Amino acid sequence: MGETVDYEAGIRELKRSMNAVILAHYYQESEVQDVADFVGDSLALAQAAARTEADVIVFCGVHFMAETAKILNPTRQVLLPDLKAGCSLSDRCPPAAFKAFKDKHPDAFVVSYVNSSAAVKAMSDVICTSSNAVRIVNQIPKDRPILFAPDQHLGRHVMKETGRDMVLWPGSCIVHEIFSEKKLVGLKVEHPDAEVVAHPECEQQVLRHADFIGSTKAILDYVVKSPKQKFIVVTEAGILHQMKKAAPGKTYIPAPPDNGCACNECPYMRLNTMEKLYRCMKDRTPELVLPADLQHAALAPLKRMLEWSA
Ligand code: 13P
Ligand code: SF4
Repeated sequence: MGETVDYEAGIRELKRSMNAVILAHYYQESEVQDVADFVGDSLALAQAAARTEADVIVFCGVHFMAETAKILNPTRQVLLPDLKAGCSLSDRCPPAAFKAFKDKHPDAFVVSYVNSSAAVKAMSDVICTSSNAVRIVNQIPKDRPILFAPDQHLGRHVMKETGRDMVLWPGSCIVHEIFSEKKLVGLKVEHPDAEVVAHPECEQQVLRHADFIGSTKAILDYVVKSPKQKFIVVTEAGILHQMKKAAPGKTYIPAPPDNGCACNECPYMRLNTMEKLYRCMKDRTPELVLPADLQHAALAPLKRMLEWSA
């Protein structure tokens, strides 16, 4: 007979005995979000990691997010339930190619989206997330050319919002690039009373149909405050869990991707499960470790982001 474990109770007990904090992103499965101490977007999670006093940070998100927590907390143990929880944006920006790109523009101010490796962050002047990208770019001296990597769609959105020209790395997210414009327009026709809310990692032809564009947290706050009762949500479907909790009477329709599925889930984020979370806490592995020099080099641009976001 296999072992039957009450993962939720086990995780809560381990949290107490280890003095751990569980940080989770909105794209995690609902049970993982519910057992977490804090659920947020990339910026809020980085800020929560920066201020925690727990001995252990258990990060329920993807690798770059846990890496960010480790860079901000070099002395604390950072656990990630599955080290294979990567990110297509980060994978599409290999450090050697990024260095060659940067070398072609020696005078440029380099802004990297937080969805990038520690090695890319270490070569950047400042980091941004989807919630502070406009604010960060607005603070760059007007006489400096700007390189923006790795998400071209967020980059284009920021160019539009700030009026700044930027050289864009041609990266994209496998989840957000496959929303179907045709199906979205069909949903709008079917639900004329719905507002469309979208993440800026979506392509321009999708974003142009949005009533509101923002980070996961900004989208969540928007639907809660909006007087409208119905929303077509163009981002990873995990966010619907918090929408239903915060504003249960409203209707949320996940926008469909172009692959035949009814809604869109990030295959990397969904690698984390309650079982893996429990086991990683119990065994204190997998642990996120980084070379000290890389950790040190990536800290300055991350700290600048936190300062410029305050
Ligand atoms: P947010 O920072 O908006 O939560 O986005 C993270 C992400 O990976 C979106 O795909
Ligand atoms: Fe990366 Fe896209 Fe997944 Fe976000 S949704 S973690 S950008 S692959």
